[in-house]
Amino acid sequence: MIRIETENTALVLKVGKNQLLYQTYMGTKLVNSSDYDALSRENTKKFTVNDGNPQIDLRHPAYPTFGTDNLFEPAIRMTHNDGNPSLELVFQSQNSLKINDDITETIIKLKDPQYPVDVILHYKAFFKEDVIEMWTEIQHQEKKEVMLYNFASSMLHFEASAYWLTQFYSDCAEEARMEESALTRGTKVIDSKLGVRTAMFATPTFFLSLNAKAEENTGEIIAGTIAWSGDFRFAFEVDNNHALRIATGINPFASEYSLSPGKIFSTPVSIYTFSSNGKGQASRNLHAWARKYGLKDGQKSRLTLLNNWETTYFNFDEKKLTDMFSNAKTLGVDMFLLDDGWFGNKYPRSGSTSGLGDWQATKAKLPNGLGFLTEEATKSGIKFGIWIEPEMVNAKSELYEKHPDWVLSLPNRPQTLYRTQLVLDLCNPQVQDFVFKVVDDIMQTGSGVAFFKWDCNRMMTSAYSTYLKNQQSHLYIDYTLGLYKVLDRIKSKYPNLPMMLCAGGGGRVDYGFLNYFTEFWASDNTDPYERVFIQWGFSNFFPALSICNHVTSMGYQSIKFKTDVAMMGKLGFDIKVNELKENELKYCQEAVANYKRLSPIIWQGNLYRLISPYDESRAVLMYVDEAKTKSVLFSYTLHPQFDPNYNFVRLQGLDPKKTYKVEEINKMSERRRSFEESGQIYSGDFLMKVGLKVSASIKETSVVLEILEVT
Ligand code: DGJ
Repeated sequence: MIRIETENTALVLKVGKNQLLYQTYMGTKLVNSSDYDALSRENTKKFTVNDGNPQIDLRHPAYPTFGTDNLFEPAIRMTHNDGNPSLELVFQSQNSLKINDDITETIIKLKDPQYPVDVILHYKAFFKEDVIEMWTEIQHQEKKEVMLYNFASSMLHFEASAYWLTQFYSDCAEEARMEESALTRGTKVIDSKLGVRTAMFATPTFFLSLNAKAEENTGEIIAGTIAWSGDFRFAFEVDNNHALRIATGINPFASEYSLSPGKIFSTPVSIYTFSSNGKGQASRNLHAWARKYGLKDGQKSRLTLLNNWETTYFNFDEKKLTDMFSNAKTLGVDMFLLDDGWFGNKYPRSGSTSGLGDWQATKAKLPNGLGFLTEEATKSGIKFGIWIEPEMVNAKSELYEKHPDWVLSLPNRPQTLYRTQLVLDLCNPQVQDFVFKVVDDIMQTGSGVAFFKWDCNRMMTSAYSTYLKNQQSHLYIDYTLGLYKVLDRIKSKYPNLPMMLCAGGGGRVDYGFLNYFTEFWASDNTDPYERVFIQWGFSNFFPALSICNHVTSMGYQSIKFKTDVAMMGKLGFDIKVNELKENELKYCQEAVANYKRLSPIIWQGNLYRLISPYDESRAVLMYVDEAKTKSVLFSYTLHPQFDPNYNFVRLQGLDPKKTYKVEEINKMSERRRSFEESGQIYSGDFLMKVGLKVSASIKETSVVLEILEVT
């Protein structure tokens, strides 16, 4: 028996008499470890027909193969060099390494008795965070290449009376929307076939609730995601006995992979947490894990900023930008972020149709170059960040003129453009060098750039790599691996460089990327009403400091509502500061100052989602620091029909024995009355059992409360 355990969860595997490896348990840890012995299903669960011979093995293979007796979704499928399509994996050995007080890695070696094929299962348990990472290595010593058709990162099995799946469907400006449905018999697949910008239609995250619909604070739930930025696939198969298997990994669709002898095929890491206290606990587990292990600089601070995309689009010059530097300073933010439109000379980037690929500042627009801009920014007392989209190219560019063979495009069909651009072939090492140099050159030329926003505004279509020749089915995987090589080089040369991930909004969000990026742009939809849903969706899997939200002129709501909504994640602005009314500017300045004081709680504290916008016409959430001494609560009233007469909201995560003062902050005279309980002192017990009337009743108004322990 092999037990993979965290503080509250156990995944138990067992080697059967036939030497195959089975999962016997995944769930809340049992109190008596001897009870795991009773989990053997070896003799009890075999379907037999009249003659008494076992026909179908109903046990749950830890890593099911294809070609022998598996009747359901396989984790692995391959054809050997002699054309034989079967694989059997028997247990060889297991080894547990205690990496530190928190992390234990279990490595299990499996082997085919007939062919020299080894499969190594890795399970990394993060004890305190209750998270388990799983991945697989596949290798062989056959005479020639084998062909891999399925290569899941992990397979898990569950048995429950019902399975409810929450998926996070997306589209541009409609990211991370939650939808829950019951799984029926058969296979439900959530996947991406987009090659790049792979989260555009589906964020690679899910909740799977056992027995009943997912709740915020109760119920057994599995939260799953994957550290892979290419095509992914999550398959949920409910079999004839109503058992569920979940396979997660790279999408094998159109991606059969030929593996040479001695080479290792390593799957990406799948990431799981099991919670017996609903979605809220699952999210807190993942946030804690991410801040420590999954997100670049997850325990460091972030830069608040003023961005120019929505205020200027491509239409700016040096004067406009330097004026905005002083605006950033006036607001009190840390940085100015220059967006698209600063580059290209033969074909200046004055719109989306030209210049992409030519990463030199446009002389006509910025005669003194980037160095001058950063110097001016420094003089204004702020940092300077810059936008790039280095994996893409416009046909109208010097880069394309020089290297037409660097783009993904079919040799015998017309190119398909999207936003008038093409995807560069990151399978090609020369292209990898080029993309690395985009960042390296900007950093090396003394530009003083302190931050990058890395965009990606299209998916792959008509994808064909000249470089890959007759191995086109490697394209989707090799592109992603090529991109990781570039990002590895950037990270190792510039380990302290913060970068924002962006893909025409939030079309690229996953923990593969977040190993390199400090944050991501959640959506181009900055209407704060819509944004509540988008940020709520992402909050289930990603910590607040990774989710970038900007206050913009989109939407007719007050500046207070916009800012309060943006403050639930990483705050930024993209507005014409000089056009703000006096009271608006004053409000923003105060909000930025408040945010700076509160950001350690928002960024590093525990998130409690109190009222979901999917349940009521309001959203309420709070962050509480680890010591339970400081907390901040956000309440957003959405679109109530009549006077909603909202119920009191019970707070969470506080210490019942502590006493707290509740203070309304971010105040601005609005139509609503001010928060009545402001200035009052309550016990944590009262706040969590009785609660506060936190929500205003007027459409699109907000309340922000700072809740501090009084000693
Ligand atoms: C799409 C991004 O989501 C926007 O924020 C902006 O950077 C544009 N691209 C620029 O082209």
